[in-house]
Amino acid sequence: MTIKTIQTKPFQDQRPGTSGLRKKTRIFMQEHYLENFVQAVFNAVKADADPPAQTLVVGGDGRYYNRSAVQIILRMASANGWGRVLVGRSGILSTPAMSAVIRRRKALGGLVLSASHNPGGIDEDFGIKYNIANGGPAPEKLTERIYQETLRIQEYFTVDHTDVDLDREAEHHVGGTGILIIDSLSDYTAVMEELFDFGSLRKLFESGFRMAFDAMNGVTGPYAVHILEEIAGAPQGTVLRGTPLEDFGGHHPDPNLVYAAELVQLMSSSSAPDFGAACDGDGDRNMILGKNFFVTPGDSLAILAEHATKIPGYSGGLAGVARSMPTSMAVDRVAKELGVPAYETPTGWKFFGNLMDAGMCTLCGEESFGTGSNHVREKDGLWAVLAWLSVLASVQRPVSEIVTDHWKRFGRSYYQRHDHEKLNAGAASEMISNIRQRLLLLEGTDFAGSKIVLADDFQYVDPVDGSISKNQGIRILLDDSSRIVCRLSGTGTEGATLRIYLERYLKDGGVRDISEVLSALKAEATKLLELVRYFGTDVPDVIT
Ligand code: G1P
Ligand code: ZN
Repeated sequence: MTIKTIQTKPFQDQRPGTSGLRKKTRIFMQEHYLENFVQAVFNAVKADADPPAQTLVVGGDGRYYNRSAVQIILRMASANGWGRVLVGRSGILSTPAMSAVIRRRKALGGLVLSASHNPGGIDEDFGIKYNIANGGPAPEKLTERIYQETLRIQEYFTVDHTDVDLDREAEHHVGGTGILIIDSLSDYTAVMEELFDFGSLRKLFESGFRMAFDAMNGVTGPYAVHILEEIAGAPQGTVLRGTPLEDFGGHHPDPNLVYAAELVQLMSSSSAPDFGAACDGDGDRNMILGKNFFVTPGDSLAILAEHATKIPGYSGGLAGVARSMPTSMAVDRVAKELGVPAYETPTGWKFFGNLMDAGMCTLCGEESFGTGSNHVREKDGLWAVLAWLSVLASVQRPVSEIVTDHWKRFGRSYYQRHDHEKLNAGAASEMISNIRQRLLLLEGTDFAGSKIVLADDFQYVDPVDGSISKNQGIRILLDDSSRIVCRLSGTGTEGATLRIYLERYLKDGGVRDISEVLSALKAEATKLLELVRYFGTDVPDVIT
């Protein structure tokens, strides 16, 4: 088969963010746009590997353009001499399933087609991300190399070949490259079966326990139907919105109190089941609910750490835990009690991967509805649901009591994230650099009735490889273990998004109105950051 060399020119906007390259779908559909990026990835990974001997995995969350992108990638993978490409059937692989496939099949890497929890459709978002052999997102060094390749690209390689039938499991050949269409569910399911006791989950459902799982028309629908209904024995109909749709039914497939409103409503109704959960578009995020009860992601991580040894896959205990810097410090208190290290990393999952590869960390999570463990190198929504189910099966108490018991034992971090979206990017970066310059002066001053003990721009030194990540967010820590954190999003596609994280710690962590507990912190943060001066308002667009 003849390899075609296509002349192209660099686009200047292909710097991958914390979760790959994410843009409006129409940008990706421009001539050469996706091709340039894919070639840049291949050029960058070819520098250290020999693709003919190697396997690439391809799959995505099923959003608009997923299928076309898979076909483009297959032709380019063939022209670039990859030995084998594994593709999830219908082009579908959840992000954690991609991680599982890469690891189990010893692939060199994988291309994930997703914009995660962002809406899908021709006028919405698309994305692509390269994951490395450990199953996790490319480290910063590699993403930088990919970006540099996008800036100097002059040509890419492809072949003339008809579309491969993605809908049946079969083996094809495109030039010298073997293309294997694989079952999207089986590798991931096998990993779950190693970790969880499905017999005890079956007993739980047999005893009359009920749950509702909202797949938000994202990729987890088929995984959840198979694992929750077919294997764990949850009744049919447990999985809601289980069909993956190219536009997620026109919704934001983002599992939080705002975008999963129907599930939230069900869980607070008189017919609420015992347990509720939702996952995002590509299946890596999760939200956990009890009857009329919301479990914050920070508490969820802390509680899973507290009860981890009740889950077969973690019965030997935890090597350590990790959280991203803005995530509430609840899990640190559990780690202290367990006598295991707690790591604080920058935002973005890739930092956890190094700790896990080095055997230093077992559980990790982020405030943005991401929870996971060392079974893969991505956050994993359905895993979190199964972990909670296992804890519920073992403890035999309602979700709300498990959480309030946790607060009694460890105290509580009252926590909110305030997002200010679509801001003028110039104003946003000016605001951040302004506060950065004033940080040193803040230490020792009063803030919302407490004293500031630390004010800095978070810098992370990776304990495994010594690499340094600077400017990872402004943090202002108070003497009563309360904090405000503020940073700019690395994943938005329109203007800038400012995230302000408010956290107040109280030792007697009862049920209180969170906004009230946080109101003094919010008022001080508004003043300190001069929100009104920079953006004309201090009212956030989304509170989670
Ligand atoms: C957001 C979340 C972050 C997560 C990332 C990818 O990034 O805050 O925790 O890792 O999405 O899902 P941000 O937009 O804040 O840069
Ligand atoms: Zn996601």
